[in-house]
Amino acid sequence: MRRSSLRTWLLLVSVLFAVLTVGGISLTTYIVVSDGMVSVARERVDQFVGVSQNIVELQVRAVEGELGEDASGSSALSEIAGRLDLIYTGRTSSEPQLAIYDSELELVWASSEEALVEGAVPGREQALHQNEVVRVSREDVNPLRGLLGPAVLPMQIVHLHVGLPAGEVGVMDVTYVPEREEQVIDAIRTPMTVLAVSAMSIMVIMMQASMGWVLKLIDDLRRAAESVDAGQLNVHLPDEAEHEIGDLARALNGLIDRLRRKSEAQTRFIADASHELATPVAGIRGYTNILRAWGADDQEVRNEAIDAIDRESRRMARLCSDLLALVRDERALTFTNVRFDLNARCRQTLAAAATRYMSKGLEFVGPDEGQLIMVGDPDRIEDAVAILVDNAAKYTRAGMVSLKTRRRRDMVMIEVADTGEGIPQQDIQSIFERFYRSDISRSEKTGFGLGLPIARAIIDAAGGSIEVESTVGVGSVFTIKLPRGRV
Ligand SMILES: Nc1ncnc2c1ncn2[C@@H]1O[C@H](COP(=O)(O)OP(=O)(O)OP(=O)(O)O)[C@@H](O)[C@H]1O
Ligand SMILES: [Mg+2]
Repeated sequence: MRRSSLRTWLLLVSVLFAVLTVGGISLTTYIVVSDGMVSVARERVDQFVGVSQNIVELQVRAVEGELGEDASGSSALSEIAGRLDLIYTGRTSSEPQLAIYDSELELVWASSEEALVEGAVPGREQALHQNEVVRVSREDVNPLRGLLGPAVLPMQIVHLHVGLPAGEVGVMDVTYVPEREEQVIDAIRTPMTVLAVSAMSIMVIMMQASMGWVLKLIDDLRRAAESVDAGQLNVHLPDEAEHEIGDLARALNGLIDRLRRKSEAQTRFIADASHELATPVAGIRGYTNILRAWGADDQEVRNEAIDAIDRESRRMARLCSDLLALVRDERALTFTNVRFDLNARCRQTLAAAATRYMSKGLEFVGPDEGQLIMVGDPDRIEDAVAILVDNAAKYTRAGMVSLKTRRRRDMVMIEVADTGEGIPQQDIQSIFERFYRSDISRSEKTGFGLGLPIARAIIDAAGGSIEVESTVGVGSVFTIKLPRGRV
């Protein structure tokens, strides 16, 4: 997804989120308020019902007292109607209205036109015949109408049984259109809308601001990645922040650092390798010229030149094979896993070195006769051990080269010690770098500084480690630790 479309998408999500949240809260509030208002309306009707019932009963008694034996029929009813007229005149339509019907459900009296509810006959009959209080709430209005326009609450109707003069019965209707309650809802609608719209806008603005901030950080990361892609490895992302994007920036900085170090090491490696190859090539060319100029006449010069060319070409061949070994070990291409006796291999390595360095008169001490079985690649491990033994012999003028092996839990240790010139403390960190040779050993002309990097690459690939301890003038101890494998 492109950045701009991500922004649009986030805007849409934040607007939707704000509308849903604020809309949901407003709707719930409205429903709670309108429900509350309906209850208020019902209570109001109930109070009015109680009072009106008493008033009607009092008037009936009074008419019965006044008319005595004649307190029946239409004259008594019109007397009651007259009395109620006096009591209820002047009621506004925002107050409950009253209507009284006789036993035939004929209207006796109504406080106003609004008290005459159509279609309420079943309720009246139920109240009349079963002597029940029948409450009806006219639910034919949409309860959510008040959200968008003037509120409309259901009309409240109560039918109840009343006694009329001379033992007659009738029905009283109490009708209430909850206008006051509707006004309350109308009054809160505007502030609620303003509040909802403000809350939504604030929410969207805050979400956009925080998204913008996050996107800006991501944008920085993207630009850094593009620079790295373009080969610029000196970028450093701001990584001081303690949040997740700070963590990401720190991880990327680490990655860029590693890439830079690798690229620098590669450049150095190519330069060093070319330099090392150029030296024997220059030697060969020099001696070829000598051969061409004097080789035909001078036997001695010819032999010397041929020897030198042979020496230099061997040196070149060895360098090439070392470089190849290094590249191969880095890729860890051919690593077999077989069961073998490490001690036997070590003894072979030591014997080969003893033959090579016989002229130096060193003492070579190998591991005891017993076996040390492990699982790994015997040839590669032997290569690594041979490099250490070769160094020990090469950098020791007199004394001893010893090779010990031992087992510790699921690891094996191979220790190559010598009584040689030792390695200065400041060089110990660097001797595993390619082409590095310490100043002391530069007098020893045969090396390239590739042995230890090759040994480390082999041991790393086998899941082990190499450590070194050395004292100048006393000697060095190189220790290889390897997993013993499942024997
Ligand atoms: N046993 C040792 N005693 C003293 N110095 C050592 C010993 N082993 C390694 N070094 C130092 O570490 C350097 C690097 O060793 P490494 O085996 O990588 O290269 P090299 O022996 O110089 O050349 P190459 O092994 O490529 O022929 C050596 O030049 C030497 O200075
Ligand atoms: Mg070496």
